[in-house]
Amino acid sequence: MKSELLFMKQEDVIAAGVLDMKKILELVEKVFYLQGHGQIINPPKTVFGIPIGEEPQSHFFSMPVYIGGDINRPGTKWAAESRANAKIGNLPMGIDMVILSDPVTVQPVAIMDGMVITAMRTAAAAGVAAKYLAPKDAQVAGCVGAGVIGRTMIMALREVAPSLKQIKLCDLNLEKAQNLANEFKDEIEVIPTNSVEEAVTGADIVATMTTSKKPFVKSDWIKKGSMIIQMSSCEVEGGVVEKTEKIVVDSWDQMKENDLSIINQMVQQGKIAEADIWSLSDIVCGNKPGRENNDEITMFSSRGMGAHDIIIGDYLYKEAVKKGLGQKLTLWDEALWV
Ligand SMILES: NC(=O)c1ccc[n+]([C@@H]2O[C@H](COP(=O)([O-])OP(=O)(O)OC[C@H]3O[C@@H](n4cnc5c(N)ncnc54)[C@H](O)[C@@H]3O)[C@@H](O)[C@H]2O)c1
Repeated sequence: MKSELLFMKQEDVIAAGVLDMKKILELVEKVFYLQGHGQIINPPKTVFGIPIGEEPQSHFFSMPVYIGGDINRPGTKWAAESRANAKIGNLPMGIDMVILSDPVTVQPVAIMDGMVITAMRTAAAAGVAAKYLAPKDAQVAGCVGAGVIGRTMIMALREVAPSLKQIKLCDLNLEKAQNLANEFKDEIEVIPTNSVEEAVTGADIVATMTTSKKPFVKSDWIKKGSMIIQMSSCEVEGGVVEKTEKIVVDSWDQMKENDLSIINQMVQQGKIAEADIWSLSDIVCGNKPGRENNDEITMFSSRGMGAHDIIIGDYLYKEAVKKGLGQKLTLWDEALWV
């Protein structure tokens, strides 16, 4: 029996609706809900780096997942990040593929570009966290990093924090911040800067999404009652974490495998207790409270969950089938040795 699957290039993924941030937020929140109800199998990702010279120049991540409930979809994301691409700038820093399988026959049903899915779901996880943990009347966001996630973070924050009036956006490359300011000029005021202090000081929501391997956000710049979102591992210094009343993560199982994570390092050093790190799924499911007052400082940090990619991939695949998008590929006409 012939085995066919749908191949979706990036343009098909976009035509199927991946840029609809409202929908992506809904799907990502559903994963946190299902995770809290034991319906997600999402083992820690496997990662390796390929060294060229002293340090790894590229990293590869394998992220297998099963989503239960009414989704019932196994799949995996094969993700990769390249320092060379980040330096040269003619290819994306992160390049990802999403593969979906049939839960019963285990045949692959779809393979699609996962780059835009990754960008959207990463910011959406932060957006879901902000829905529960950001100050209710947030006016100003201080964002650091005007790359791929910098763009989707603005999309997510605008959706979940409609009270936002201004975004101060810092990047080492000021031109990238200026370009994003221009891109969003009809939607929200974005003020480009190359000073992290200027971007972060006094902000109601601070969000970092850079490729920096060293902390650069100082605790003195964090105001009472704000929310901090850290998308990479160690962009905020330890003092920021110590100042935080609620430390919330997407998946502690994933984060504790990451030696670069500032939260993980502080747990290892005994500066914070593992029990004080909450899972966002507990808040989404109502087992733990979100923001409780105007004064507390909250923090969300993520390592990234394949389950977010797979639930979005599943949705986009179904939309593609409805809209006639993508290209059918044949895995075999008649399988050998059946
Ligand atoms: N947690 C997750 O699920 C997840 C998923 C995807 C990416 N990420 C992480 O998010 C980060 C951003 O990814 P991206 O795809 O947007 O990368 P990108 O290369 O598109 O953008 C990164 C930006 O950060 C800027 N930058 C680097 N160091 C800086 C500093 N010290 N101060 C100010 N700006 C600085 C760069 O100039 C660049 O514009 C990466 O660390 C990536 O690993 C996390």
